[in-house]
Amino acid sequence: MLDYTALSVVGCQWGDEGKGKITDFLAAQADVVVRYQGGPNAGHTVTIENETFKLHHLPCGILYQGKTCIIGNGMVLDAPILLSELANLEKRGITAENLFISDRAHLILPYHRRQDSLEEEKRGDQKIGTTLRGIGPAYQDKIARRGIRAGELRDLGRLIKRIAEVLKEKNELFQRYYGDEGITMQEIEEEYIPVACRLLPYITDTALLLANQLAKGAKVIFEGAQGAMLDIDYGTYPYVTSSGTLAGNICSGAGIPPGKVGTILGVGKAYSTRVGAGPFPTEIEGPTAELIRERGREFGTTTGRPRRIGWLDGVALRQACRLNGVQHLALTLFDVLSGVGKLQIATAYRGPDGSSIEHFPAELHILEKSTPVYREFTGWSEDISRAKSIKDLPQAALEYIRGVEETAGAHVSLLSVGPRRDQTFWRL
Ligand code: IMP
Repeated sequence: MLDYTALSVVGCQWGDEGKGKITDFLAAQADVVVRYQGGPNAGHTVTIENETFKLHHLPCGILYQGKTCIIGNGMVLDAPILLSELANLEKRGITAENLFISDRAHLILPYHRRQDSLEEEKRGDQKIGTTLRGIGPAYQDKIARRGIRAGELRDLGRLIKRIAEVLKEKNELFQRYYGDEGITMQEIEEEYIPVACRLLPYITDTALLLANQLAKGAKVIFEGAQGAMLDIDYGTYPYVTSSGTLAGNICSGAGIPPGKVGTILGVGKAYSTRVGAGPFPTEIEGPTAELIRERGREFGTTTGRPRRIGWLDGVALRQACRLNGVQHLALTLFDVLSGVGKLQIATAYRGPDGSSIEHFPAELHILEKSTPVYREFTGWSEDISRAKSIKDLPQAALEYIRGVEETAGAHVSLLSVGPRRDQTFWRL
């Protein structure tokens, strides 16, 4: 067991690393679980006793009774989706009396989703492959200082005026530039606002709440969404999401000082996947990719899209560990590699001029002309999904773990060999 006061769980690839499952496993010890970036583009899957829960906004701590769960100011939230998440949980007897939403979190309005679709359509063959949940446009409006924040739901008269102002601009854009019919204020007033107002009881100053909890000695987990390679600055820009996905963003996204981020636990799959468009140097196709996709249930939680599959990209993982300051690495979906045959880990790329590239380049055109340099591993055929400790793993699996550590420059402290809580064990 890892001893911590604050623990930050961050994705080290292109998202979908199994952060939900790992956070759920770790949340048993925690008092507070906080989401600090992203929105309903995220899809955190947690399996408890053969029942699967898919969470988009809600921190995984919601699946335990009595944990304080926070939707931090760095998130963008879609009220109808969040309410349907809560309703689904309620049907299964899970209530959310300990949920708190930051009054500074930005709201995704119906025009953000429309804008996301129109922008994607306009991109033609340069599509990013967004989740079409309005994430990018909501963050654009935040930075452009015309966003609407959750706290504004407290004053309906003012809120309606503010939305009407923004909608005027949006409709000009939609109608004149995109040739779209636009959205009426009536639709927003009748269909969106009454729903959004149902969030009011949860809305508060979550940074203050968190500070008080930390002062009382509460154990806190910061649950990241997406992954380092989708980070707005260090990901494969512009094929990235619109938020900061690195541990550095926890402070501004949750409202805590840097010293409170605590221990950094990075999560990486034993291979790589990516949804949406953009460079993916170690991508593979054919029967091995199909086998991994089926075994790993590699279909998007949010969009259902089949995920692209690749060998473990050690260059990307190394960058993620360095940027996040990963102290412990959780290696997930390790059981999926049983019986795949020979395995590969990319340790570097060969650049267009023949040079060795050890660090993920900023320029995508260089990446596109580079090829991975692989280290090969023999693989293993034993089923490892019932392993309870490192001693239950075959020698070849141990060699693979050592290969991951040497490439990433981080210690593999936690292993996940299946979706359930009891298919997780420490290697501290
Ligand atoms: P957006 O976040 O919807 O704007 O999408 C931007 C890119 O990030 C697209 O390639 C998405 O597929 C990807 N993306 C966003 N959220 C996730 C996630 O939770 N897992 C994996 N990919 C994601």
